Amino acid sequence: MIINGPSPHVSKDGPVLIIGSTGFIGRFVTESCLDSGRPTYLLVRPGVTSCHFKSAVIKSFEEKGAITVHGSMDDGDLMEKVFRELKIEIVISAVGGKNILDQLKLVETIKVTGTVKRFLPSEFGHDIDRADPVEPGLTMYAEKRKVRRAIEKAGIPYTYICCNSIAAWPYHDNTHPADVLPPLDCFHIYGDGSVKAYFVAGTDIGKFTMKSMDDIRTVNKSVHFRPPSNLLNINELATLWEQKIGRTLPRVTITENDLLDAAREMRIPESIVASFTHDIFINGCQINFSIEEPEDLDVSSLYPDARFRTIDECFNDFLLKLVENPKVLKQASGNNNNNGIIMPAPKQEAMAIATCT
Ligand SMILES: NC(=O)c1ccc[n+]([C@@H]2O[C@H](COP(=O)([O-])OP(=O)(O)OC[C@H]3O[C@@H](n4cnc5c(N)ncnc54)[C@H](OP(=O)(O)O)[C@@H]3O)[C@@H](O)[C@H]2O)c1
Repeated sequence: MIINGPSPHVSKDGPVLIIGSTGFIGRFVTESCLDSGRPTYLLVRPGVTSCHFKSAVIKSFEEKGAITVHGSMDDGDLMEKVFRELKIEIVISAVGGKNILDQLKLVETIKVTGTVKRFLPSEFGHDIDRADPVEPGLTMYAEKRKVRRAIEKAGIPYTYICCNSIAAWPYHDNTHPADVLPPLDCFHIYGDGSVKAYFVAGTDIGKFTMKSMDDIRTVNKSVHFRPPSNLLNINELATLWEQKIGRTLPRVTITENDLLDAAREMRIPESIVASFTHDIFINGCQINFSIEEPEDLDVSSLYPDARFRTIDECFNDFLLKLVENPKVLKQASGNNNNNGIIMPAPKQEAMAIATCT
């Protein structure tokens, strides 16, 4: 393998810098990094202390051994100092949609410093060179593509994590669906509901990112998360949730045009999510191409012994949340009983069921 630029050989205890650890995806990645026992540094912007939730997140990471560095990734002088003094070998960026282009300055600094051995830019979704969403999602992908081209031009060893969808109900207007329970009133079915997608647990996004980030086989590759157990269409996803809650819910069709209209409204971020939803469930952007080695690698082939959490297990987690939060249940059922929803016994696996009426 011919690789230009810095050596891609990361030492087993090489320090990692995570940018975006307080974010939705960044939290999963940081948890896994700390679990792996690697020296973990977190770049945290100064304003974070004004947010109670983010401060608590940082504190819990620090209690597990993370070391916080204050600053912003577009501060070149600071980042150069951080890379050199802390001997950072791997940089993982999980910045959100608004800050994708801030990574261009980071790429420049990584290049100038020349000490970072692997960079994982903020991807964590589709293969953005292949996916083809309408606007406004397209603009975000154009920005991510710009970052990819800058990394490649600079000769920085990289790994692109294409983890597909988070394991949750794919609401077409919510950027972080794993924070919300699947529907309790009705399902929105996109198109005819037959186009499949991969749903990956947040913890597995973290776990397999850790495995990939220092693997010599993944240098300058896109790593695709395609666990066969988690490939479902939205009708199958709805049926699975119905089995969990023990009742059927109405299914309302959201047509291709409905999604395109929602995208055209240009409400940010909802319209971005609508454009991605269209690309996933109408265009089939996660399944309409095959993985072509050597540039693409399937994470399940790389780590055949490592198990993904199934979507079934992830939905059990949502069910437990429902049990532990009766208020949600009351709101959904519109009265003071559980309206026929079958409840699991808390802390038990899967469908160990006690009926509440
Ligand atoms: N596969 C999926 O289902 C899925 C779902 C959501 C997102 N994603 C992708 O995952 C990536 C992360 O998105 P997200 O929604 O998790 O992001 P997010 O929740 O908005 O969090 C962004 C994080 O980046 C930090 N940040 C932003 N600019 C920074 C800067 N200049 N310097 C240092 N830190 C900075 C923020 O810090 P502060 O705390 O200071 O704001 C925050 O911690 C994106 O590429 C997104 O497209 C994928």
